[in-house]
Amino acid sequence: MERPPCVSIFLVLCVFIQSSANGQSPGLEPVGRRSRVVETKEALQETETRFLLFKEERDKGCQIRLNHPDTLEQCGFNSSLPLVMIIHGWSVDGFLENWIWQMVAALKSQLAQTVNVGLADWLTLAYHHYTMAVRNTRLVGQEVAALIQWLEESAQFSRSKVHLIGYSLGAHVSGFAGSYMGGKHKIGRITGLDAAGPLFEGSSPSDRLSPDDANFVDAIHTFTREHMGLSVGIKQPIAHYDFYPNGGYFQPGCHFLELYKHITKHGLYAITQTIKCSHERSVHLFIDSLLHPSRQSTAYQCGDMGSFSQGLCMSCQKGRCNTMGYHIRQERQGKKHKRLFLVTRPQSPFKVYHYQFKIQFINQLKKPAEPTFTMTLLGTKEENQKITITLDEEITSNKTYSFLITLDVDIGELIMIKFKWENGAVWTNVWNTVQTIIPWSQAPLYSGLVVKTIKVKAGETQQRFLHTINLRKLNCSLLLDTLFLHDFLAHSKSSASDSQ
Ligand SMILES: *[C@@H]1O[C@H](CO)[C@@H](O)[C@H](O)[C@H]1NC(C)=O
Ligand SMILES: *[C@@H]1O[C@H](CO)[C@@H](O)[C@H](O)[C@H]1NC(C)=O
Ligand SMILES: *[C@@H]1O[C@H](CO)[C@@H](O)[C@H](O)[C@H]1NC(C)=O
Repeated sequence: MERPPCVSIFLVLCVFIQSSANGQSPGLEPVGRRSRVVETKEALQETETRFLLFKEERDKGCQIRLNHPDTLEQCGFNSSLPLVMIIHGWSVDGFLENWIWQMVAALKSQLAQTVNVGLADWLTLAYHHYTMAVRNTRLVGQEVAALIQWLEESAQFSRSKVHLIGYSLGAHVSGFAGSYMGGKHKIGRITGLDAAGPLFEGSSPSDRLSPDDANFVDAIHTFTREHMGLSVGIKQPIAHYDFYPNGGYFQPGCHFLELYKHITKHGLYAITQTIKCSHERSVHLFIDSLLHPSRQSTAYQCGDMGSFSQGLCMSCQKGRCNTMGYHIRQERQGKKHKRLFLVTRPQSPFKVYHYQFKIQFINQLKKPAEPTFTMTLLGTKEENQKITITLDEEITSNKTYSFLITLDVDIGELIMIKFKWENGAVWTNVWNTVQTIIPWSQAPLYSGLVVKTIKVKAGETQQRFLHTINLRKLNCSLLLDTLFLHDFLAHSKSSASDSQ
């Protein structure tokens, strides 16, 4: 779909920020949405929202109309199959965004089980001042609920087969739809893709998407970086599983520096693309999960991104990790939100392989060693060249350093790790060390900087590797290897006890 270059986006964003900064809820009605539940069914004969169904991958959609059963047949609705319905967000230009067609195509072409693919087109209600669009989300939620209720009555369709995928404001529309359904049973699943933050952050669960709205709710947060106290995407957890790729603040490849690259690809439209980049990344991560069934991203439960970056959260025990995107494992344990973290590549396929490293050094140098070195990992499938590591602090003895490493490719089982120190301080010491060693080959047995133990845990396979140097067996030639060749063989794979 062609769109005019949208240069007014800056202006629009300013309005967006201003109007939301004025106070918590100029747009939100005080009435709890649950108080108005079933009235929708009788009242609604026509909907403002256009509901489209897609028969083919490259189809522009066929409109189904509430209370017109013939349209279901015309549009090829099959009530024995699930219904996946896409719900877009706030519109700044009155056009459907391109990702919608990409998602339709992916849902139509990539799934083993055929599904009905639909779109709730609420552009006429979304192409407004932000606060107005926010106010309209409830109405659209009602209309979506009315459609599902009508499908139940007229086509014996079960609401448990409904999966709503809402982006930005559409995520909250999905939540409202779920809660307006009423009755004992909920709809099957809601996926919130970077659910909108302004006017929703901090509000009560009934005023935004929440885990109460469906049997299973998952959310991907991609643009929660604050600007003047507000973030485009909601920061707080709103689902059973909340995914925070790269911490959720901002996404790799979305910096203004990348603008030139985007301009060659999208023309002037790149300006809009760059601004929306992190927000819309949630959508592309989801589409990616459909397009690359064999490259599913795993995310790990963790307190925050800081701990995750130290590699402290590589556990999959007791449901602590899950797959991000369409193929998520739909299990719920307790009422608590689970916050999951992962690193991604800047473009599709987004998957990386996560490794936790825990290293203990013995440093017999007179002073702490520089915390910067490179590692090369050799696996059964591939070798990964030179990853530069900078630890938070200088290296001293007997301290365990924990950090996270991510690789773009699957190197298979880890066979060997090579370390290399390239900074001057260690180098000058090496010669001193060597000189020290040679005259006293008996004792001391070691000197300089030596890796004492190394533990590696691979997140994706949950395999653990451990290597410990036996200091008593450490002889000169091994020591020289370690220091001089800067190579270190960490072959011995074992199932070490802990790694948390
Ligand atoms: C509906 O889907 C079911 C299950 O895939 C299939 O057996 C059936 O033929 C479909 N009905 C129509 C009318 O296409
Ligand atoms: C490190 O541990 C070894 C024994 O494991 C001990 O002999 C040595 O004194 C310790 N070094 C420091 C600096 O604590
Ligand atoms: C020292 O270590 C090397 C390599 O591990 C080994 O080949 C050599 O036999 C060892 N020498 C002694 C004296 O233990």
